[in-house]
Amino acid sequence: MSFLRIEPARQRLQRSELAVPASRPELFGKALHGDADYIFLDLEDSVAPGEKEIARGHAVKALRDYDWRGRGKTVSLRINGLDTHFMYRDVIDVVELAGDRLDTILIPKAGTPSDVYMVDALLTQIEEARALPHRIGIEVLIETALGLANVEAIAQSSRRVEAMHFGVADYAASVRARTTSIGGLNPDYPGDQWHYAISRMVVACRAYGLRPIDGPFGDFKDPEGYLAAARRAAALGIEGKWAIHPTQIPMANEVFTPGAPEVERARRILAAVEEAAAVGRGAAQLDGKMIDAASARLAQNIVNTADSIHARRAPSLTLVPGGN
Ligand code: COA
Ligand code: MG
Repeated sequence: MSFLRIEPARQRLQRSELAVPASRPELFGKALHGDADYIFLDLEDSVAPGEKEIARGHAVKALRDYDWRGRGKTVSLRINGLDTHFMYRDVIDVVELAGDRLDTILIPKAGTPSDVYMVDALLTQIEEARALPHRIGIEVLIETALGLANVEAIAQSSRRVEAMHFGVADYAASVRARTTSIGGLNPDYPGDQWHYAISRMVVACRAYGLRPIDGPFGDFKDPEGYLAAARRAAALGIEGKWAIHPTQIPMANEVFTPGAPEVERARRILAAVEEAAAVGRGAAQLDGKMIDAASARLAQNIVNTADSIHARRAPSLTLVPGGN
């Protein structure tokens, strides 16, 4: 291990993240009562330019009137990009009026560390002026060539940054990849054409203690396609995926929840490595396979995820008001 110690970002369960256009308040109740770990209220691409202002008002109401945390959820706000004149009001209006009820801000099309700096500075001032009781986190969408080129620098840009999301549609547009449906595969490519970008983002996240999350799969009538995309992403180290429709939530929860046999085996690995260490050995065998300290680290990841899923289900945790 390097001598450099990286403190991991705040832990949150983020297996499934439902995108909810803030311009459609009739969806809020459905989102609240669904099973997504995370919700983001969207002010960006799912809201038409003429609706931005009214959507901001709905976002404030969604935060004030609905008890997301009471339902064990994390709630985030996707603001408009820094290249638009909507962005500053998105942050100021919503955080001033409902920042105490907001967990994170999601910055779309992050391209450089300065993009994060600007949101960080605004949040810092508003939190101080309004005496907000907690620090609002920042999440970024990596969905442009510039964002991916600077992904390691963005990952280190602020102590607020917690997670990075791969935005497949804008990324494809930015690099001019040929693709047919959002998050689907192009049959001309022999494999997963998103492998490089996702892997690169995962490495930046894991190097700097952030959560890597996969973005949307647009064809919500194709559950097999969604499951395959989620499993490919999980194989690369991604820990959650967006749902753009409620039917995608249980699939994300399933793919990003370690199965009972996997958790049981992980606990046995931890016990076996500990037993081996007690008699002065690093490597041991379990069920005919070699295990060592690296196996223990993999196993510990699985046990940590299983424990946080269990904690989300525990009523004592879901009832903490404003539990931040
Ligand atoms: N959040 C909460 N509820 C949702 C929802 C969402 N994102 N999408 C659909 N629903 C609800 C509908 O209101 C409907 O509820 P009802 O049965 O009580 O009437 C039910 O789920 C079925 O919806 P359906 O009729 O199949 O879809 P729709 O035509 O209303 O909407 C979309 C389809 C794609 C427009 C909608 O799902 C959506 O806006 N998704 C999010 C898009 C987005 O945020 N994009 C930006 C990120 S990529
Ligand atoms: Mg996008």
